[in-house]
Amino acid sequence: MGVEVVVEGLSKSFGKQTIWRDVTLTLPPGEISVLLGPSGTGKSVFLKSLVGLLKPEYGKIVISGTDICRCSEHKLYDVRKLFGVLFQDGALFGSMNLFDNIAFPLREHTRKGEAEIRRIVLEKMEMVGLIGAEKKLPGEISGGMRKRAGLARALVLDPEIILFDEPDSGLDPVRVAYLNQLIVDLNAQIDATFLIVTHDIGTARTVPDNIGMLFRRELVMFGPREVLLTSTEPVVEQFLMGRREGPIGMSEEKDAGQAAAELAALKANGGGGPLGGPKGGGGTGIVPQIEPTEGLPIRKAVERRKDRVMQILHTLPSSAQDAIIASLTREEQVHYGVFAGAGAHAVREPAVSTSTAQLPTPYPRAAELPETQWQPKQGSIVDEPPQQPTAQRSRRSWLRRGGSQ
Ligand SMILES: Nc1ncnc2c1ncn2[C@@H]1O[C@H](COP(=O)(O)OP(=O)(O)OP(=O)(O)O)[C@@H](O)[C@H]1O
Ligand SMILES: [Mg+2]
Repeated sequence: MGVEVVVEGLSKSFGKQTIWRDVTLTLPPGEISVLLGPSGTGKSVFLKSLVGLLKPEYGKIVISGTDICRCSEHKLYDVRKLFGVLFQDGALFGSMNLFDNIAFPLREHTRKGEAEIRRIVLEKMEMVGLIGAEKKLPGEISGGMRKRAGLARALVLDPEIILFDEPDSGLDPVRVAYLNQLIVDLNAQIDATFLIVTHDIGTARTVPDNIGMLFRRELVMFGPREVLLTSTEPVVEQFLMGRREGPIGMSEEKDAGQAAAELAALKANGGGGPLGGPKGGGGTGIVPQIEPTEGLPIRKAVERRKDRVMQILHTLPSSAQDAIIASLTREEQVHYGVFAGAGAHAVREPAVSTSTAQLPTPYPRAAELPETQWQPKQGSIVDEPPQQPTAQRSRRSWLRRGGSQ
């Protein structure tokens, strides 16, 4: 099973430029999470911080009990071995053929013999559909093949955590669809923790278990996909709809007055539909998640996540609660003591022990539940953010907004 990544109160600046501050989230082990955000909001900086290539000034990143912001270089080196990273540009060595590129981490970080290296490289190349291209140079292959070669290289050390920085950029829609399937299949096969940065809304809507969004130097929200996909938070909605109207402008931020006027006009037109043609299929509501290809194992994270999300169900907005409950089988609804359509008023009953032997064990008491899994960072993004957002205040503001939805 993949490794949990706990980020607490993380802030990163370059000189006087704050990139983001007070970012708190947990990547649950083995689950797929997506990080969204307009260009320049610091998504790549976040990934590089997770792997210890950049040092945030404040906060913690705890992986397997080690805070990588404070640990020794030696310890960091060890923790890094848990990671596979697919960089935004693939980052292949131009003068090395694909085989040598993919073999590189094995030759650098292990003492494996060439026969063993060959076996591993060919196995990973097969996984990403690159068998036969071993001798090609990166310059001789298509962008999609380069991405897949970068992915094979990210996989050779059997990582527990994989970071993907825009794996789908520059690919045609069909290849994006193949790549998304490949990501889900990989997750089913290796059960590692995935974090994907993407601008593709179709990917965001169909691949992850959790979605987060960076905007205006804050993590606006992070939580189960159902929360963000049903959210009416203006910035989240605008991004997932892929439309011009809303707080996000061409240069990341818009004047709050202008954004509010645009949203009012959009409402008056009775529309929520995208006007500019969203990338990767924007829209409202929840679409089914991509399933692993037939014949592959089921994703182990799906069952674990179900248990985890049911623990925090009562803290989620009612639209997300409804969507989550509707996704359960009748047997699971009985097990968790919830009923379709109950929404915020979902009733809990003691777990039924008969016929649920294969189901996860019932969740702990509500009072013990973590709050940092999903909470919105601040009030409506069009408004001024509260001065010192705390988990409690965030939840109160969420409930306030939830009541008016
Ligand atoms: N090493 C660095 N030194 C100084 N500033 C940097 C450095 N790396 C990134 N930045 C700045 O941090 C900000 C965020 O950059 P980042 O590459 O993380 O954005 P992003 O969200 O990944 O954008 P995109 O979607 O376009 O890839 C930018 O203003 C960038 O100029
Ligand atoms: Mg980037």
